[in-house]
Amino acid sequence: MSISTTNEKPTLTEKFTPEEKREIANKIKPITLDMVDMEYNKLKNIGKNAENQSPRSRIGNNVVDYFTFMERLHTRGKYNCNYFEFIHNIDEFQKKKFIQNMLEYYKTVKNKSGKKNKYIVWKETYNICISAINIIRPIMYMEIYTKYNATSVLDFCAGWGGALIAAAVLDIPKYTGIELNSSLVEPYKKLQAYTKSKNTNTAIDMIFKSALDVDYSILEYDLVFTSPPYYFIQKYEHNVPYKSKKEMDELFYVPLFSKTYQHLKQNGYYILNINKEIYENVCIGLFGVCHEIFFLKKSQRQNEYKENVYVWKKL
Ligand SMILES: C[S@@+](CC[C@H](N)C(=O)[O-])C[C@H]1O[C@@H](n2cnc3c(N)ncnc32)[C@H](O)[C@@H]1O
Repeated sequence: MSISTTNEKPTLTEKFTPEEKREIANKIKPITLDMVDMEYNKLKNIGKNAENQSPRSRIGNNVVDYFTFMERLHTRGKYNCNYFEFIHNIDEFQKKKFIQNMLEYYKTVKNKSGKKNKYIVWKETYNICISAINIIRPIMYMEIYTKYNATSVLDFCAGWGGALIAAAVLDIPKYTGIELNSSLVEPYKKLQAYTKSKNTNTAIDMIFKSALDVDYSILEYDLVFTSPPYYFIQKYEHNVPYKSKKEMDELFYVPLFSKTYQHLKQNGYYILNINKEIYENVCIGLFGVCHEIFFLKKSQRQNEYKENVYVWKKL
């Protein structure tokens, strides 16, 4: 089999059972419930002080990963390939010089001691050579919610759960998450049950459908912070493919940003984690130049690929 370099149809398959996938995910990240509890409690102690934590702090990431790491492994990057397809077809991938070199480097230098198991080595190779599917850290969400005094959050491309965790930890009165990827329904159910067991006061509402089809007039929110997919960089499960950037602008970003902005409360904040291209192609036309802009600390979706956070205050 040859590996397609186009980003059209998936050409790769894999034959792992759900149990095997779970085992593999656990071999990469062996996270226990005790670890989750410990990190959740640490986040609670940090509370409104997230801004003063080290930008490298990973506290809380294990909570996200415990619930949704498996689903993240199904996201497709370059070659239209997810992690499981990558490892199932590793013999084919090893014919590519840069992947062969990377694996050789791990064998002879980086993992000479053999401490990292093969699934970790393959994951790190996948991250470097195919695509790193990063999360926004819960602590980063906490910093933003605190900075802008959020009391009701709308996150219309919710993703991996860090936002919900941050809202729950801070007892933000209301968090509404919208997510198209139906594979995340069960993980979110478990995550919500977990935050409930930790006595959060946050009223959490997760809506699993396209954010384009939600009636925002019946929702109340004074802060929007989300991170929509960026054109064709990564392919999330059950997402809709668009033919061109222009088509995606017209059919996705413009209607979605307009509707969600329209029902944001007066004096509320509209905050997007997007790249410069979407900001320039879509957002300036809709909302004008943003009121504030900052880098998302320690989060890059691809090597050398910087993303910003753009903030508008609805006056
Ligand atoms: C960049 S990810 C968000 C990751 C999130 N910021 C995090 O760190 O956990 C984008 C998410 O938007 C979701 N998505 C894509 N199209 C959508 C739509 N029409 N409605 C709702 N969610 C959508 C994808 O399934 C994906 O989970």
